[in-house]
Amino acid sequence: MLILGIETSCDDTSAAVVEDGKIIKSNIVSSQDEIHTQYGGIVPELASRKHIEMIWPVVDKALSTANASLSDLSAIAFSYGPGLIGSLLVGVCFSKSLSLVHSLPLVAVNHLEGHIFSAFLESSPSFPFLALIVSGGHTSMYIIRDFNKYEEIGRTRDDAAGEAYDKVAKLLGFGYPGGPIIDNLAISGDPEAISFPRALIRDSLDFSFSGLKTSVLTYTRKNPDAKKEDIAASFQAAVVDVLVQRSLEACKAKGIDRIVLSGGVSANSLLRKSVADAAEGAALEVYLPSKRLCTDNAAMIAAAGYHHFRRGNISNFSLNPKAYVHLGSAHG
Ligand code: KG4
Ligand code: ZN
Repeated sequence: MLILGIETSCDDTSAAVVEDGKIIKSNIVSSQDEIHTQYGGIVPELASRKHIEMIWPVVDKALSTANASLSDLSAIAFSYGPGLIGSLLVGVCFSKSLSLVHSLPLVAVNHLEGHIFSAFLESSPSFPFLALIVSGGHTSMYIIRDFNKYEEIGRTRDDAAGEAYDKVAKLLGFGYPGGPIIDNLAISGDPEAISFPRALIRDSLDFSFSGLKTSVLTYTRKNPDAKKEDIAASFQAAVVDVLVQRSLEACKAKGIDRIVLSGGVSANSLLRKSVADAAEGAALEVYLPSKRLCTDNAAMIAAAGYHHFRRGNISNFSLNPKAYVHLGSAHG
């Protein structure tokens, strides 16, 4: 069964053809980094305009790379939220039009659910597991008990981890996205050079990264000659410490022994190594999607869509994109 996935929730236009929720026939991602880098962050209006320009060429390329035509498809799965409303609107309207013209069923997928399902493209984690989603828009932990049984147990109270990376890169004078830049810079820095705060909120599994970001800002103002590599490495150590510590705490508190990492920040080299090391010490299984599947892509949307479609979870034409929507909410 072939599903066409469509993802336009933020700044990447992506389309993918995935067979049986597992075999990636194509996964085309058209990045807008070049447009947004000069602003140090995403400009929503520019993002939606670029999606309009790219959506058809990207879908066309996904189909031709997969050697498939629209008549070979069983359904179209698309992200309907959360995300930037103008960006989502492009993917939702495009999917509805394609569905109408080619009589293809529509499957609405929560973008966060897509991130979790990126792990299922390369492995088959058993339930239950802890899902840590760390991206530019979200930093949350869920207990995933089964398909469609998602319990949020912690979330950021302010900035997402990726947002903190992007803002720190910007204040150090770098472009967007900041995560890969800081990740690279940190390799030649000393993670113990500066002791940045680790926010571990008491009696909660929530996160907070805005204090850390402010701390980096204050430090760089007071120490204009400090090595950027040391700032990057010390900042990264603080983010990763908190993410790893909280994940292990959550597993212990909830009696879970599997962790699935997802979202753009899970491409981070230190996070991947630290989670793997910590999990080994705590006898936990870890699932790390390959880096290209951590950041936004449509294969993960097609994978999640496949599981909904098999369960008859079809969406209707009255569905509208949603900028804010909790994972586990009913589809529109
Ligand atoms: O999942 P994603 O592509 O989009 C959202 O759903 O937000 O995540 C993008 C975020 C950006 O903030 C970017 O800086 C961050 O993921 N990111 C990284 C790395 N690669 C991407 N953060 C840290 N290290 C990386 N290697
Ligand atoms: Zn994402």
